Amino acid sequence: MSEVPSMDEAVSSGQGAPPLVIDIRGATKVFNPGKSNQVEALDEIDLSVGPGEFITLIGPSGCGKSTLLRLVASLIPPSTGTVQVNAKPAEQARLDRDYGMAFQTAGLFDWRTVTKNIELPLELMGWSRGARRRRAAEMLELVKLSEFANHHPSELSGGMQQRVAIARALSFSPSLLLMDEPFGALDEMTREHMQDELLRIWKETETTVVFVTHSIPEAVYLSTQVVVMSPRPGGIASVIDVDLGDRNASTRDDPAFFTKVTEVRTALRKVEE
Ligand SMILES: Nc1ncnc2c1ncn2[C@@H]1O[C@H](COP(=O)(O)OP(=O)(O)O)[C@@H](O)[C@H]1O
Ligand SMILES: [Mg+2]
Repeated sequence: MSEVPSMDEAVSSGQGAPPLVIDIRGATKVFNPGKSNQVEALDEIDLSVGPGEFITLIGPSGCGKSTLLRLVASLIPPSTGTVQVNAKPAEQARLDRDYGMAFQTAGLFDWRTVTKNIELPLELMGWSRGARRRRAAEMLELVKLSEFANHHPSELSGGMQQRVAIARALSFSPSLLLMDEPFGALDEMTREHMQDELLRIWKETETTVVFVTHSIPEAVYLSTQVVVMSPRPGGIASVIDVDLGDRNASTRDDPAFFTKVTEVRTALRKVEE
């Protein structure tokens, strides 16, 4: 059947790739143009994301975070401007399955086992049964859920369901992972645990991540860069570098962490004025 690269091959094949994973230039988005319910959602977005970055989009509700993520995913086209992913139009990147996505609700199918949920994108891509099984097992190991392979999603906690969703999104080794408030529905302790798990997976897979959140500490804890968005129409107010190094158990108590949290909060207050 289909030739399936191993996880290592799939990851390393990106090595010769051009430096930018995302390159957005002058992108705007107007919904329902010319109609009475016209919405100017995004205004002149320029954004470059290099390989291996962990970018967080943060900003007031309705400022266009999800819209920007959907432009990158080519789920909607920009009204003007260009969106490139891996040096090709976002639409081509979608066809090439260059990215995986995860949302606030895990979106798993309960009539399928956990393994079968992770296999779904591979099934759609025509992978052989054996190759699917092997990859699903690898992914379950990655998200530490091997013993739940044959469970159904409703038998799992919310945090575990999100780990399955992440395993599914990464099953075909996309170079880019797009996440829209994936931990928004989890309680605080589970959420912090998931943040650590995501950082571990990010390092292990060398995937580039674009992550939407409302939470300032979450943005600072996870990111290499925090993109602060301004509302109506949404724009990029500032990009804040977060150079906290490898996160560990003491990071959340580190004065440098609080300094960054304050910096992001100050930038957000400015855009909300
Ligand atoms: N499909 C759509 N049709 C019309 N308006 C939309 C659509 N999607 C989003 N919007 C509007 O665009 C703006 C940005 O929305 P969104 O990107 O969902 O914001 P955020 O994710 O930051 O909360 C909002 O005013 C929203 O109502
Ligand atoms: Mg949103």
